[in-house]
Amino acid sequence: MPSHPVLDVLRTQAHALTRRAHAPFSETPAAAVLLLDSGHWIPGVRVESASYGLTLPALLNAYTTAVAAEVAARSVAVVLSRPFRREEALYVDALSTGPYEAAADDAWVRGGWTGNGALPTPEAPLSPTLDASIDASPQAGLAHVREIAERAYVPASHYPVGALLECEHGALVPGVNVEHPDWARILCAERAALGTVHSYDLPAPKRLFLTCTTDPHGTPCGACRQLLAELAPDTTLWMDRHATPPEQATPSELLPGSFRGHALLQES
Ligand code: THU
Repeated sequence: MPSHPVLDVLRTQAHALTRRAHAPFSETPAAAVLLLDSGHWIPGVRVESASYGLTLPALLNAYTTAVAAEVAARSVAVVLSRPFRREEALYVDALSTGPYEAAADDAWVRGGWTGNGALPTPEAPLSPTLDASIDASPQAGLAHVREIAERAYVPASHYPVGALLECEHGALVPGVNVEHPDWARILCAERAALGTVHSYDLPAPKRLFLTCTTDPHGTPCGACRQLLAELAPDTTLWMDRHATPPEQATPSELLPGSFRGHALLQES
């Protein structure tokens, strides 16, 4: 594996971040680090679902956090805690912010940044949270989430969704839907925000504000209901109904009797 000082730093960071992965079923944690041209970087961890196919890959988790933070166009490199798999290489290869090129078996670098020494020195992680706090009424959260929805990357659907997760102690985590030429790699806004909470090891979500600017009847899809039931069961959802009052629900109301995989966990 070629040695590049910046990639080496990111590699070390990716390995350390595997501790934040949610991998109770495979016990095979993975993490990604996405470096921005400013030197700030974004972590992404693997987040497993009891419905295995809904597992968030580390790389997709980091990239969707970058889109929600409006910095995806500033990505210059992405490094994994282990070698890229074929599907991960295909994911990066098709990103609209590219082209990216493989620089090592665990690292892809954006074209123009591949020269030795050209990459910025990694600084602090980028803060993913809004620089704001909200009161107990749903109105403030809904006002923020309507602005967040404008960050969605939706060339396939033109259906922008915004999510805002409020964690315990008030951190506000944005999420948007991020589309990809391979539809199986598209991530919804709700799951994008949940992934960011895990990547940054933030406290448990308490409220989720959701909006679709083009659909006053928008509601979480089945995949999002599953992940909310597993990862954020104590969250209250507030769904924007545009001109009429928002609709309130809990994950268990949206997905009664959900499968959460307790029997799959190894007894320790
Ligand atoms: N979408 C969400 O972001 N959340 C949902 O719960 C429903 C669907 C996105 C995914 C895709 O980008 C587009 O909306 C159409 O399904």
